[in-house]
Amino acid sequence: MKRTHTCGELRSSDIGKKVCMQGWVRFSRDHGGVEFIDLADAYGITQLVFDPEDIAAGADRKAISAALKDFTRESAVSVDGIVRKRVDGTEDPKNRTGDVEVLITKANVLNRSKAPPFELGDQKESVLPGEETRLRYRYLDLRRTEMTEALRFRHRFISAAREFLEKNGFIEVETPMLTKSTPEGARDFIVPSRVHPGTFYALPQSPQLFKQMLMVGGIDRYYQIARCFRDEDSRADRQPEFTQLDMEMSFVEPKDIQDTIEGLMAHIWKKIYSKELKTPFRRIAFTEAMNSYGSDKPDLRYGLPIIHITDIVKDAPYDIFQKILSKGGIIAGFNVKAEIAKDKIGRNDVDRLIDFVKKNGLGGMTWMRATKDGLDSNIVKYFTPEILSELRKKMDVSEGDLLLLLAGPVRKVLETGGILRRKLAEDLDLVPPGTFDFAWLVDCPMFETDPASGKKDAFHHPFVMPTTPLNDENAGGASFDLILNGNELGSGSQRIHDPDVQREVFRMLGISEEKIETDFGFFLEALGYGAPPHGGIALGIDRVISILLNKETIRDVIAFPKNKKAQSLLDGSPQKVDDARLEELQILSVAIDDIDIDEIK
Ligand code: AMO
Repeated sequence: MKRTHTCGELRSSDIGKKVCMQGWVRFSRDHGGVEFIDLADAYGITQLVFDPEDIAAGADRKAISAALKDFTRESAVSVDGIVRKRVDGTEDPKNRTGDVEVLITKANVLNRSKAPPFELGDQKESVLPGEETRLRYRYLDLRRTEMTEALRFRHRFISAAREFLEKNGFIEVETPMLTKSTPEGARDFIVPSRVHPGTFYALPQSPQLFKQMLMVGGIDRYYQIARCFRDEDSRADRQPEFTQLDMEMSFVEPKDIQDTIEGLMAHIWKKIYSKELKTPFRRIAFTEAMNSYGSDKPDLRYGLPIIHITDIVKDAPYDIFQKILSKGGIIAGFNVKAEIAKDKIGRNDVDRLIDFVKKNGLGGMTWMRATKDGLDSNIVKYFTPEILSELRKKMDVSEGDLLLLLAGPVRKVLETGGILRRKLAEDLDLVPPGTFDFAWLVDCPMFETDPASGKKDAFHHPFVMPTTPLNDENAGGASFDLILNGNELGSGSQRIHDPDVQREVFRMLGISEEKIETDFGFFLEALGYGAPPHGGIALGIDRVISILLNKETIRDVIAFPKNKKAQSLLDGSPQKVDDARLEELQILSVAIDDIDIDEIK
């Protein structure tokens, strides 16, 4: 290699060395005939200087000057030069190479760049173009230090994970991309088969069924950095194509899987941050998470629990409460303590919070302020002194506190409570910055009912081992989620290894006998050949990296993500396919408006 040093390497100790540097021209400026160039690569930025009055012996001033004319922004260039100390007072302490500069003795353009559509320097976010432009020219966006560093961090994370897993006996096995549907709750992306016209493969929503069959196959400890595909609407933390750290283990119980993940995270922490990660992670039961924090992935870095007061106010002759209670609703709320509110919530702010609650689906919100004379609110008149005293006790009220009370159907109150809790934490700066708080969500239900359709669904997926008789009203399942700072990082479970139990779960989900056979017959058959007790977990790699790097979206930690509308702006996919190709697949492409339904019938 001609290159002797990267752009992040030179220090004062290199002064006097002859070097060859290659990289991109990030920025250049002319100071009274002396040209300064910021040369950038994946590792940093080094200042180059061309001073026509200060030419090293043997250097060709004219040739350098001519070459520098082509040093347009983002051109790939090569320079030879001599490292020297920067003039006193011009050092750049923010740059690791900021004490030195390279006096150019030879300059070459390797590939001249067209004017880039945006500046790649380290600007503040506001100077960057919109995300669509960044995605359209992703190869340039990736040249920005922030992006390069994000991908390097991601690599280090995965590499540390592999190191731990391999040390602990896991082997990486690839599972197919052209498969049958796996029920993870999203739509499948489907791929037509040319060889078998009219039939389709599904891209895997996860390797779930295959990793379980690897356990039947005696693989014992499997992992995979697995690409998963889900045709669902993109969000800040969702992509149609994303990556899981997927694992499965035989002859284990849930605690073994959780211990392994804690060990894995602790290893990664040590490698990346040189810090001990506190384990075991705390465990929170699903019911407690919902009741106290209104979320199945509560952020436990701050308090502000939901306090339930239904029992205390149930006899108060306040119409609105009575109506709600008669329909089986609840009343619960928050005590925003004077210490945390710090006078930040005035009358107008309370009105804004009421609007916020209404926008999130509840009829409204009642509030009370604790003054030195007692609780002050327009509903206090409905409460007896006993009720007020109970309320003060339950909600731990002292002077200056603000009580916010929500009333309505159970699920709505808890969910809105969870959303309001997050908003209060943001507005009141309750979240300690730079902290990472892991927790396990445990004791989960086996099923959940879709409130809109009333349809019974698997809470996690249908392969979770039940922990109670299946027909119990609140049947439990051995699934668990890994939570980090209020985000779901991963889900895992003990699996069903008995085909009869598995069949029964499918039935309870309303899947017909025929569909059980066509969709899962192969899998039930596999379980019937001595499937070992087994379990596993999958962590969302994009999610964990974006949280650790404090990014707003997982798109910022994926090299080539799709935009919010599931398009790749870089290559223009998805796109139409030639008719000839469709014909080969025996697929007819007709605009829906051109179809004469009667003719087809
Ligand atoms: P689950 O569906 O919960 O479980 O997915 C596991 C983790 O994958 C991440 N994830 C996503 N990340 C980005 N974009 C998406 N669209 C997306 N969907 C999911 C999340 C999530 O916690 N087979 C089971 C795991 C198992 O039981 O072993 C599964 O896939 O971080």
